[in-house]
Amino acid sequence: MFGVCYYPEHWPQAQWEQDAQMMSELGLTYVRIGEFAWSRLEPNPGELDFTWLDQAILTLNNAGLKVVICTPTATPPKWLIDQHPEILPVDPNTGATRGFGSRRHYDFSSVQYLQQSLRITRALALRYGSHNGIVGWQTDNELCCHDTALSGSSNARSAFQAWCSDQYLSIEKLNTDWGNVFWSMEYRDFTEIELPILAVTETSPAHRLAYRRFSSDQVVNYHTLMVAEIRQHAPDQFITHNFIPMNETAVDNFALAAPLDFTSYDNYPLGRTDLMLTGAPADQLRRYMRTGHPDFATYYHDQTRGLLNRSFWVMEQQPGPVNWANNNPRPAPGMIRFWTLEAFAHGADCVCYFRWRQAPFAQEQMHAGLLRPDNSKTEAWPEAQQAMLEVSKLDITNQTIQSASVAIITGVEGLWVSDIEKQGEAYDFNSVQFSYYSALRELGVTVDFISVDADFSPYALIIAPSLPIIDSAFVEKCKNSSAEFVFGPRSGAKTSEFGYPTDLPPGLLQTLLPIRVLSVETLREDFAEVLTWNDRQYESCRWREQLDAANSEVIATYYNDEPAIVRSGQFTYLGTLTNRAFLLDFLQQQCEHNGVRTYRFDKDIRVVQRGALMFAFNYSEQPQVLPIAANTQWLLGNATVEPHGIAVWRAIE
Ligand code: GAL
Repeated sequence: MFGVCYYPEHWPQAQWEQDAQMMSELGLTYVRIGEFAWSRLEPNPGELDFTWLDQAILTLNNAGLKVVICTPTATPPKWLIDQHPEILPVDPNTGATRGFGSRRHYDFSSVQYLQQSLRITRALALRYGSHNGIVGWQTDNELCCHDTALSGSSNARSAFQAWCSDQYLSIEKLNTDWGNVFWSMEYRDFTEIELPILAVTETSPAHRLAYRRFSSDQVVNYHTLMVAEIRQHAPDQFITHNFIPMNETAVDNFALAAPLDFTSYDNYPLGRTDLMLTGAPADQLRRYMRTGHPDFATYYHDQTRGLLNRSFWVMEQQPGPVNWANNNPRPAPGMIRFWTLEAFAHGADCVCYFRWRQAPFAQEQMHAGLLRPDNSKTEAWPEAQQAMLEVSKLDITNQTIQSASVAIITGVEGLWVSDIEKQGEAYDFNSVQFSYYSALRELGVTVDFISVDADFSPYALIIAPSLPIIDSAFVEKCKNSSAEFVFGPRSGAKTSEFGYPTDLPPGLLQTLLPIRVLSVETLREDFAEVLTWNDRQYESCRWREQLDAANSEVIATYYNDEPAIVRSGQFTYLGTLTNRAFLLDFLQQQCEHNGVRTYRFDKDIRVVQRGALMFAFNYSEQPQVLPIAANTQWLLGNATVEPHGIAVWRAIE
């Protein structure tokens, strides 16, 4: 269950056969091709040329390899842009058209581009939809990467007006829902509606929320139609997409994933760690610069698995230095094997390396591959080989993925709300969500990411770190669930149209928790104050709510003895953000109270279960001894886990 990303169009045909031979010798099964090849598939308008692709597929198939083919829609060719310049998106922050010359230069609201995309997709699906050597499809490539979900084009504006008309039915309702009487923002007709961009100062948050919902719908609609087109002509081949995480694209990935057979993720732990820790103290970044932060890769693996609640693929796996972060270090020895096994442990069924050979030309020439441009093998090669042996020996892909006992409720609306109404510079949806995840992972707890629509019954503990918009169906589900719930601050704090609940936050959650949020204050990141819980002192920071908790049990207090965390039955509400020490102690207590096993290993050890296998990953530079029962049945390694090493043992039920 291994593969590679290959670009036959980058190399002379004479090279293909040797490449295919070497791929097969390495033990690869899958080769993903074609996602940027439109200019070669249709060099001139309407002149389709599949001969080279037929030949490439044949060469790969002859070496025993199976092909995953992509729609080439991430890169419309120059002639198409010249024919229809309105395909180009407009940067909503500057109003400038984003030009040709890289990739993703298209607008999800361009009807012309949608038609062109479906046309090329149909042509490919007709040709390859029943081809024996093709196992499946990847749609486009990393939809909305490079900040392309939003567009400020006139196409987007007219589509937004039509969307508003569908959603609100009357302009009066829209004016009321958005609060347009404020600052004389009232519209007389849907055709007057502007995009909430390039205004003098802040536009209405409800208007911006609608624009986010609309933009997400545009992406989902584009993608769903593409999937349907492939499905029609390729009913027996799988369809997947390599997702960019929801917190980066601000698009509803649950909706995007719905028509797919499984989801995929592109795993670049070092690039991601560098970007996420930009601005963090140097020590924090240096510690993980060659391994990636212990929770960054799996944070996205677990979310990717959660989109359809089933196993996923890593469609691109970093094999060495990348070219796109602020700084691009080499992975520590062993990390390619480590990340590969980690992905499988978190539910991957296949890992494909990006890319086969480093390109000696164009934008990514500083990006490593399995081979260097001179065809010599990089350090990733033997590591991938080792990972293949181990994955097969441990039979990981046949381990069923059972539900975890703990779930984090995620969703794009929380992100939209925190982007639109910052209120405090230190409140950030993703860091809030990540802090809970990372604390649970340090406790060795396996975590599922679920949406509000998921089945809650498998879970003992459900955590909603940032869920500002809820509806009564959700509240009913919580009431009928046997799980314990932990709600973070801001839960239920907004109506579906970004209003303040008239009965005060947490709005509809008041049916579960009889509390009222009297006011909210936000503090600078470094201005923490005391939080007292279980007679111990922690920190309350960044976001703090003043709670009227007369009718519930107070379980933690602020420096002035006012309630900070309250409970009512199975529901706990945190009125504040806290520090890691608190999250570790509090979540450990919550887990144990609900029968979920926790571990307190070194902070750089991560433990996860897949089927009958328990895995431990050591992110530190020191050997770590796992305090595990003497009769443990070790399947890989032993209780002393090497630096950047892995141990696997049989889970005892
Ligand atoms: C991915 C992208 C690839 C390549 C790679 C470089 O995000 O899908 O096409 O650009 O990054 O790391």
